[in-house]
Amino acid sequence: MSVLVGLDVGTGGARAVAVDESGGVVAEASSGYPLHSPRPGWTEQDPADWWEGAEEALGRVAAEVGEVAGIGLTGQMHGSVFLDSSDEVIRPALLWNDQRTGPQCDRITRAVGEERLISIAGNPALTGFQAPKVVWLRDEEPENFGRVARVLLPKDYVRLRLTGEYATDASDAAGTLLLDVRKREWSGEILDALEIPYEWMPRVHEGPESTGALREGVAAEIGLPSGIPVAAGGGDNAAAAVGTGIVGPGLVSSSVGTSGVLFAHTREFNPDPSGRLHAFCHAVPGAYHLMGVTLSAGGSLSWWRETVGGDYDELVEAASEVSPGSEGLVFLPYLSGERTPHLDPDARGAFFGLTARHGAAHMTRAVMEGVVFSLRDALEIMRELGVPVEDVRATGGGARSALWRGLQADVYGTPVRRTVADEGPAYGAALLAGLASGTYADVDEASSVVELREEVTEPDPERSKTYAEYYEVYRSLYPATRSAMSRLTELAAGSAG
Ligand code: XUL
Repeated sequence: MSVLVGLDVGTGGARAVAVDESGGVVAEASSGYPLHSPRPGWTEQDPADWWEGAEEALGRVAAEVGEVAGIGLTGQMHGSVFLDSSDEVIRPALLWNDQRTGPQCDRITRAVGEERLISIAGNPALTGFQAPKVVWLRDEEPENFGRVARVLLPKDYVRLRLTGEYATDASDAAGTLLLDVRKREWSGEILDALEIPYEWMPRVHEGPESTGALREGVAAEIGLPSGIPVAAGGGDNAAAAVGTGIVGPGLVSSSVGTSGVLFAHTREFNPDPSGRLHAFCHAVPGAYHLMGVTLSAGGSLSWWRETVGGDYDELVEAASEVSPGSEGLVFLPYLSGERTPHLDPDARGAFFGLTARHGAAHMTRAVMEGVVFSLRDALEIMRELGVPVEDVRATGGGARSALWRGLQADVYGTPVRRTVADEGPAYGAALLAGLASGTYADVDEASSVVELREEVTEPDPERSKTYAEYYEVYRSLYPATRSAMSRLTELAAGSAG
């Protein structure tokens, strides 16, 4: 029986999974690569590292499986790969959590108009998105800018190496700020306003479409058959949504990975008029989604573990003994600024309410609670916009932890389910490959293989009540400390380097 392979070009590494037709995971492999932060607020990766990681992960999976029917691609969104006319990478890619483009965002907003941007691109100009990075290159590195012939998203650079094609999918393209999201094609109006040539942009496909065949030389190196279709796939969140069955109304996923994402399927393009939630295309043809992003979710916990040292499982175990609310301690997870709901690159993290009683276990729990409060901010906006929230599914690395799942159920006040294969974006990309290769007839058939676990984490009414009170305090802290945060950001910039 042939298998489908999904490849995720993530922030921490590349991950490949092989899935059989009935949805079972038959092989998986990952390969890590570094993230560079040459200055505070800057994040970069070398596209050559993505390619090496992808080759290694695909090669290891290929060695374990028989016949492969197709590959589907997914990856971190928003990054900018600048290529010259020979497809050479001009400089390291700026990533989704890079915050250097504040001034460029202001100029984009003035050039296009804030309302117009939201009505075309579904979003205001946000520092992590791709378009401000292009404008930044023109402003700050004119020589490099002069060499640009193409701009690609991270997974689409890997696609170019796999197939020789310049192509993307509508969900990832929506994260550039250059797409007319309703029409699912590049916006001439925005490209013209920003003086970005149309020829730089890759072709936009629907997620399940084939964007080209695996090239012979590469296929031989990896150990896969040449000529198999490479599906357009999706941005990591849209692909993960396909992999958790979030392909119809009322379905919401809650993901805790490096970033945290609350994702709701929508039938129509229905942007948040104030831009606090992202409105993007879905990897499901013709569908859309709304999404709230917490930039440092699992990332906050990783930061905390690196800071205090020790074993991750032991820290989380100790945190699960602490009572809800961490005995009066609240954490703001804005370690890389914040998207939803503040859209503020200068937001900063904080522990609030510290006393001499608090120790590492309280602080670990407060970090996790703060992350989930931040995701609840997104849930509240969805409810405000009238988006039905009937079925919340936990995904990302956090889905594997009982404490993360319990916190989500209690803080949201809704049951939280888990799928059998918590493989995240790569799993969804494999299902999309199943459409490109003709294994499945449509998205409904592909998503029918997504199995839910019996186990559902129900909210506990007492804990939910406590968290509702703590959430009110959490919500009050950002507006009360915003000016101090932005002053600290200024001071730190002055003392950097
Ligand atoms: C979504 C976003 C992140 C990245 C990282 O808008 O920035 O979820 O895709 O994986």
